[in-house]
Amino acid sequence: MVVRVGVNGYGTIGKRVAHAIQLQDDMDLVGIVKRTPDYAALQAYKAGIPIYAPGEEEAKAFEERGIPVKGLLDDLLDSIDVVVDATPGGVGAKYKPIYEKHGLKQVYQGGEKPGVAEVSFSTLCNYEEALGKNSVRVVSCNTTGLLRLICTLDKAFGVSSVRAVIVRRAADPKEVKRGPVNAIVLNPPRLPSHHGEDVKTVLPRLDIVTAAVVVPTTLMHVHAVTLRLRQPVTSSDVVEALEKAPRIMVVNAEATGIKSTAELMEAAREIRRRSDIPELVVFEDSITARGSEVMLFQAVHQESIVVPENIDAIRAVSLLASSAEETISLTDASLGIGQPLW
Ligand SMILES: NC(=O)c1ccc[n+]([C@@H]2O[C@H](COP(=O)([O-])OP(=O)(O)OC[C@H]3O[C@@H](n4cnc5c(N)ncnc54)[C@H](OP(=O)(O)O)[C@@H]3O)[C@@H](O)[C@H]2O)c1
Repeated sequence: MVVRVGVNGYGTIGKRVAHAIQLQDDMDLVGIVKRTPDYAALQAYKAGIPIYAPGEEEAKAFEERGIPVKGLLDDLLDSIDVVVDATPGGVGAKYKPIYEKHGLKQVYQGGEKPGVAEVSFSTLCNYEEALGKNSVRVVSCNTTGLLRLICTLDKAFGVSSVRAVIVRRAADPKEVKRGPVNAIVLNPPRLPSHHGEDVKTVLPRLDIVTAAVVVPTTLMHVHAVTLRLRQPVTSSDVVEALEKAPRIMVVNAEATGIKSTAELMEAAREIRRRSDIPELVVFEDSITARGSEVMLFQAVHQESIVVPENIDAIRAVSLLASSAEETISLTDASLGIGQPLW
């Protein structure tokens, strides 16, 4: 069975999800919705991706720039089974009634409030909960990174509590209007940050507290995580569990010379499309076990980490794969996830 998919919003996340859909044998990218006829629209057009405009006014602006549109949003929604909403946070909720009117399965992003969908989703944690649902919210990049780690270690050893400090990138590389340029911003000043609460939308019973700061970089987020496990472990036990897990890349700083997000991204630029690292990167040298307590640093490539989860979410709502293992093997093979960076 091939599921027909449309992507509303062709920005950082939307363009990556659209490309990933094109790589799946069980999905057909029917088209994308773009609002502004800019360089990204031209690239999509030249790549042969059918473009739809949100309304008549935008369609006219596209035609004036010489970028043909295949139709309007409503036309796209009439010809698909699943819509992936990749509009800015909060905008997806406004589109929800329109998607519902068209009887579509819906996949939303982490910028939406959890109530937008029946399930908040992370493949390694709760794939089966999303099977056959009408609407699923793929949690944000930081939450996806935390959940991959927590669910992997929970499966191996049991996790009883998590404390994490999240060092957030200020903006995506393409953005010109966001900061800070020269500050470390408490995000927010009052603790805890919302990230722990977002993790609980998937794991409601987990004892987790997070704090966050925003720093002047575009390259990645970094987390300092402390986990209390349900049994004593060694650092090697943790490394072994993480190395066996899908979508986690364990990087040894001593062996590779990679001690920063800049060096990680530079390695990715050599061999990955868009220099994407959809894997969660855990720094092996940082993994420290004391009894049942484990500390480590991990890095999240905000632009791409949620892309495989979006593909899995499409499979879950469409019943294209009945287990997390099945969708992970299809998604990861098609996207080259797990291939070494050097
Ligand atoms: N970027 C990240 O690091 C990241 C990571 C994980 C999750 N997310 C989540 O993913 C979602 C999308 O984020 P993004 O970073 O991809 O955003 P983005 O780069 O700003 O792209 C948003 C897209 O939506 C379109 N759009 C903007 N306003 C719209 C409106 N009012 N109605 C319809 N379309 C509109 C934009 O169109 P035009 O450009 O054509 O004007 C653009 O194609 C958000 O929920 C965000 O929280 C983002």
